[in-house]
Amino acid sequence: MISQSIKAKMLKRFLLSTAATAALFVGFLFLNSESHRAFGAATSHAKSIPATPPPMGWSSWNSFSNTINSEIVVQQTNAMVSSGMKNVGYQYINIDEGWWLGQRDPDGNIIVDSKQWPALKPGEHAGEMSNIVRFIHAAGLKAGIYTDAGESGCSFYGPDLGPPMPHTGSEGHYDQDFLQFARWGFDYVKVDWCGGDHENLDPAVQYAAIAGAIRRAEKLTGHRLYFSICNWGNKSPWTWAPGIGGVEADIWRTSGDIVDPIVASAPPNSRHATIKAVFDNFDRGIHPAAQHTGFYNDPDMMMVGMPGLSGVENRLHMSLWAISGAPLIVGADLTKLTKTTREILTNPDVIAVDQDSLGVQAIKVAEPQPGLQVWARPLATQGAHAVLLLNRTSAAAEITVSWSAIGLDPSSPGSVKDLWAAKDLGFFSSAFTATVPANDAVFAVIHGTDLRPARYAAVSALDQHSEGAKPEACRQCSRGRAVAVGGQKSLTFKIPPLTKPAFVQIDYINRTSHPLSAQLKVDGQLPTNVLFPPTGGAGEVGVITVEIESNATVSRCELTFSYEGAASPSIESISVLGAH
Ligand code: GLA
Repeated sequence: MISQSIKAKMLKRFLLSTAATAALFVGFLFLNSESHRAFGAATSHAKSIPATPPPMGWSSWNSFSNTINSEIVVQQTNAMVSSGMKNVGYQYINIDEGWWLGQRDPDGNIIVDSKQWPALKPGEHAGEMSNIVRFIHAAGLKAGIYTDAGESGCSFYGPDLGPPMPHTGSEGHYDQDFLQFARWGFDYVKVDWCGGDHENLDPAVQYAAIAGAIRRAEKLTGHRLYFSICNWGNKSPWTWAPGIGGVEADIWRTSGDIVDPIVASAPPNSRHATIKAVFDNFDRGIHPAAQHTGFYNDPDMMMVGMPGLSGVENRLHMSLWAISGAPLIVGADLTKLTKTTREILTNPDVIAVDQDSLGVQAIKVAEPQPGLQVWARPLATQGAHAVLLLNRTSAAAEITVSWSAIGLDPSSPGSVKDLWAAKDLGFFSSAFTATVPANDAVFAVIHGTDLRPARYAAVSALDQHSEGAKPEACRQCSRGRAVAVGGQKSLTFKIPPLTKPAFVQIDYINRTSHPLSAQLKVDGQLPTNVLFPPTGGAGEVGVITVEIESNATVSRCELTFSYEGAASPSIESISVLGAH
């Protein structure tokens, strides 16, 4: 399937022998050339701060819809362990709609059906959700639950979703319900939007209120609740959802359901997957400027292993979710996975790309012909980039990724690993070409030499472009100073225009013991909340990565950091990757 370009073939041998010398020489030249923008060392010396990776797990909805019960959850939990999925990082067992029929006691506490959720061990009481949570935890896994932001969940409104279930939402009970979920021991909560939608509520307002209730529940119980927002991309959640809970990690759905709608009379496990739905949700899920520092676009639960997809399509689906850094929440019946599907879901190299601690989404770096696409994202290891050569046409075609398109030095050779073939393909000069079958992809990790970033010091930006911000001493900063933002103080970098989306590293200091956030606004676009985890009490410098898209018409690209509250990070510098 893989064919190398003629140019690469000719140069490969030569470059292998001279690569080390050439790379050293080029590196020496770069380190000694003082660009007007760069200062100090060419690359950041700061420590890379890992982003919380996207969640991995299973959800009941795609295969079991409203028929979910304790027995099914027990079977799926056991299958997650015996299939080897737990060993490669899948951890959440998420109970979706259908677990609750909408009843509350006179004090408003949720009452669940005692047959649906029986006692599982002596000493337990039937009708307590903590029974199933204990079972999931005992298997070494984490438990997720579901509710709606409005008065009722989706099964009340959908005409074809089985018997209507009114009042299965949390509206009017936010503090009470989220505290209850935390007390039951749940670790994850998905909050749907059917009620909110029908009541014409504002999702940004409702989900912020829910995030507040989650924070209070976490404080009271000391128990962490991962927040999953499910409003199908309505009112562009990527513009308001990142960091909506203050400092919570969270995910937000970017589109409608990936799985076909259920029919009331259809038995569980009868829903079909299509590759068209996979592509639709992938395309609608691409919002790379919002995905950073532990906040993720969610193109929906996966359908890998469900009826309707071929082996190639299952692999393609997994590749698309992994290159996006999407949550890997499996929707198939785990007791029915084939050997091939299990291997696809547990491929360690593919999962490593998805979970990479830089936490950024891929961007489309080339589309030389309609349907022949190159998607790429930098990985945490220096010089490593994940690349998906995607052929969406109906004929096999050659697709090339050039080093310069992904921020690698074209004069240095790069090694290529084909992830699905689990094969090192050797070194290539300046580009790699593969013949990709129709409706398929080649998924690779390329290791080369990163182009030197263009680095801009906060203290320089301060001279002209900031409101009230002042430099402060920073022993471990390259120039001994950093700039605190927060309160009335904002900091604006004005840098040369960017003609294409770019990944930007932010060097910062957070001396506190908890994550701080700041808003980043690019060229007057809507701001995004960026999370700055602690870097250490001694004032060490940490580095996080975001992606920015500049407004093509501006003569200078402007990046402004601000924060309404008092406590916020100090910025040392920003570096635009792949610039030189
Ligand atoms: C919505 C969500 C689905 C699922 C169902 C439950 O459609 O998008 O993921 O939770 O509700 O009814």
